[in-house]
Amino acid sequence: MTRKIGVIGMGHVGSTVAHYIVANGFADDLVLIDKNEAKVTADAIDFREAMPNLPFHTNITVNDYAALKDANVIISALGNIRLNDGANEDRFSELAYNSEQVKEVAPRIRDSGFNGIIIAITNPVDVITQLYQQITGLPKKHVIGTGTLLDSARMKRAVAEKLGIDSRSVTGYNLGEHGNSQFTAWSTVRALDQPLTELAETKGLDLEALDNEARHGGYAVFKGKGYTNYGVATAAVRLANVVLSDAKTVLPVSNYRPEYDVYLSHPVIVGRDGVIADVPLQLTDAELEKLQNSADFIKENYEKYKN
Ligand code: 2OP
Repeated sequence: MTRKIGVIGMGHVGSTVAHYIVANGFADDLVLIDKNEAKVTADAIDFREAMPNLPFHTNITVNDYAALKDANVIISALGNIRLNDGANEDRFSELAYNSEQVKEVAPRIRDSGFNGIIIAITNPVDVITQLYQQITGLPKKHVIGTGTLLDSARMKRAVAEKLGIDSRSVTGYNLGEHGNSQFTAWSTVRALDQPLTELAETKGLDLEALDNEARHGGYAVFKGKGYTNYGVATAAVRLANVVLSDAKTVLPVSNYRPEYDVYLSHPVIVGRDGVIADVPLQLTDAELEKLQNSADFIKENYEKYKN
């Protein structure tokens, strides 16, 4: 099977996604799309000039929606980070602009005949992911967002640093909106073969502070360099590889939740066919209430911008 990926939006995030793919040989064919023709054309030349020093070859096409027809995955990284309201840490500040961009791009994806998996990074990602699904008409399970896969990674980084261990040795999930209404579901988090709720007592960990560190992690980076790219690009490319290899990995991605009629992050099994199955959690009453609150917040904003 030829591995073909489309990347739409070649700003900081899209360029990092594309470079990660090219440098690791994750795709045989890469379609790069951006409104800035000069930039994306230059990106393609730049990547082709990297290849003599790479063990992999990637065929690169630029600004050709028709080339998306037989892509396995499309990653949406479009956005205008200059609109992001860093002071209020509000990803919804990008929604008005980004939703208009998606209303231009999504019909062109649909009309290309694409029938693979869309992975949205574009913020606010839960609403944007639902917008992609609504406009393209792709099955809900074929349209997912990076969501709290990234926030869960931030939580793992914070917990691991406190425990002095590898962040890959922390398991568990942040749930809900990839934004301010998300939360760390501590009932799902484990490290050193113990529940974090028990470790917090024996190690004197402040779970509220760690939860805040995950929630605000994106803006901690944003305030230092004006954008984020490595964490979210790595999450998106991992997701693309899980789809391409049909890995059936359990990941907390933004997916359609019928119980709320909205997209939000909850662990599901991901493979070539997108969301293969839900992963039920035994959440506490307090966690269920937070999840409902997050769903209500996302739905309220989706209703505002869907038309
Ligand atoms: C982040 O939190 C881009 O929303 C993404 O880094």
